[in-house]
Amino acid sequence: MTPNSPVRFALQHFLDNLLREGLCVYAELWSREALVASRGDPTNAAEPEVVQQVDLGGKPYTVLARRDDNPFLPPLDVAAVRRCAEACQEDTSPQGVTIPPPDILARTLDFVTDAFVLVGHGWEILHCNLAFERLSGFPDSALLGQSLWTRCGVFKLPAIRTQLLSALANGQASEIECWNSDSDRWLYVRIFPCTEGLSVFVQDITARKKVEETKLDLERQLSQGRRMESLGTLAAGIAHDFNNVLSAVIGHAGMLREKLDAHHAARLHADEIWVAASRARDLTGRILAYSRSSRGETDKQPLKALTRESVNLLKATLPTTVRLNAQLDGQEVCARILPSEVQQIVVNLCTNAWQAMPNGKGHLHVNVSHVDVQQEMPVDTGVLQPGAYVMLTVEDDGAGMSPDVRAHLFEPFFTTKARGEGTGLGLYVVSGIASAREGGIRVTAAEGEGARFDVFIPACDDDHSDPTTSSLPTHKGHSERVAYIDDDPVVCVMVEQLLNTRGFVTTTFADPESALQALLTQHFDIVVTDQNMPDFSGVEVANILRTRGVDLPIVLSTGLISEELRKAAKEAGICEVFPKERSFEDLATLLIECLARSPRAGAASQQ
Ligand SMILES: Nc1ncnc2c1ncn2[C@@H]1O[C@H](COP(=O)(O)OP(=O)(O)OP(=O)(O)O)[C@@H](O)[C@H]1O
Ligand SMILES: [Mg+2]
Repeated sequence: MTPNSPVRFALQHFLDNLLREGLCVYAELWSREALVASRGDPTNAAEPEVVQQVDLGGKPYTVLARRDDNPFLPPLDVAAVRRCAEACQEDTSPQGVTIPPPDILARTLDFVTDAFVLVGHGWEILHCNLAFERLSGFPDSALLGQSLWTRCGVFKLPAIRTQLLSALANGQASEIECWNSDSDRWLYVRIFPCTEGLSVFVQDITARKKVEETKLDLERQLSQGRRMESLGTLAAGIAHDFNNVLSAVIGHAGMLREKLDAHHAARLHADEIWVAASRARDLTGRILAYSRSSRGETDKQPLKALTRESVNLLKATLPTTVRLNAQLDGQEVCARILPSEVQQIVVNLCTNAWQAMPNGKGHLHVNVSHVDVQQEMPVDTGVLQPGAYVMLTVEDDGAGMSPDVRAHLFEPFFTTKARGEGTGLGLYVVSGIASAREGGIRVTAAEGEGARFDVFIPACDDDHSDPTTSSLPTHKGHSERVAYIDDDPVVCVMVEQLLNTRGFVTTTFADPESALQALLTQHFDIVVTDQNMPDFSGVEVANILRTRGVDLPIVLSTGLISEELRKAAKEAGICEVFPKERSFEDLATLLIECLARSPRAGAASQQ
């Protein structure tokens, strides 16, 4: 009988049925000439319990059915085995199913897109489909009878090979997903032990894997986005309160500057405190602007001067083992950027640089120059469009970095530093600034060879006013009486002193109620009220004053300005909304403007 003859198929179906129905664990069909098929493990089987003659395809066969000694198996149902054999005799198939001739099955397998191969117990290829021929690169004439290991490299992949060996050894079906680096494909391999040995299906799942990876990537981005969003909310809250503290620092530093003449030994320190705190206020302003999704207005800024200012601030914190070389002389170069952004770039890049130096020892170069980009230029954070740029370079001779670290540099929360030592947000912030200003960052680094960061910001021509040398406002009041309402006593003290040095007579109130009482009974020229206070909001204070007939100009001071608030302020007759992130020195100027605009101003001048 040929291996694929219809009779053999019929016999195999009969056997399958016996086994599937649990009638025996071991069954054999004998022809007169040869053993046709066997299933189960004959070594565990007891002596045959059923002997049945079956006539299949015109030939007589003997059925031997034996059960395992296993006491947990049900006893062999001899009658059922007989019924099965008889049914098979009558119908060729025990279920009455017409069994397709083998060439149809083979052809059908050729339509299956998964590669299929049937291997014998000695790993010889017994059958395969067209997809397998494609996978192996051989026609079936060169495959049948040959060793699986020599004909198809995929099966030599250690993970797949191990599964195949154990499936053949223990008769357990198994499956595995595996990356084949030779073909750059993901493979899904399913292995089913069978009478002949193993039938194996190999599916190319690269496309599915890519979709899964994209999905994972999107999920990662989404969760990162959520993290950033909640971080933004948290930061905005802190920035809002921190502004008050900074206002006090700036105000007092400003007054100190005024009291110390230019040659006083402490004047330089007062100036530095004033500049640093002003930058810090810009920063909190940016956090608030970010939480309101606005990018912040920018003027032309002199990059060399601002970098010099940041380097000076840094000098106080850099270890003395770092040799800092800043080349910031020569013609000034300008770009549209906030001074606090320049400070963030310089501080983050320089801090990273010295942290990368073994034992904090090495050379640090900072340089600002003008470059013309002639054509689109790919950099590490995107592509620079042709045009003029200011290039801020920070270079160190520290440990450098591996290509792997370099690939992740600008991702939020990526850090190689120990827990608690780095947040991994430094370069993310720097790249965010560069991108928002339509610039980019180029990194040149290799392991053990230091690192260089070039930050490109679109340049503009250099007529500018240097904000670092700006002097304190010179607007002065003329003993106008100011009622200042704010529940923060620190701010109250500072504003009182500041406005008084600007020529106003200021009375501060820490709670709106006492302010209302005083405003109804005493003489004032202008009111400044905070918006967020425990009992009344600033707008409510304005409304109460209006309904009680007080028609003084009112300025609302707040850390968070929204359109709704502007509208409510206008309806309450408030003349100006003053953003708290602005310096309180600007407040003096604003008060003078409001007083000048007020209808009472004309009346006063006529008195
Ligand atoms: N100049 C440099 N030389 C070598 N590696 C660097 C350099 N600058 C950055 N890196 C690498 O990039 C990583 C990310 O830097 P980033 O400034 O974003 O975060 P961080 O410095 O780890 O943490 P944080 O800035 O919050 O303190 C660093 O952990 C470091 O591995
Ligand atoms: Mg850092």
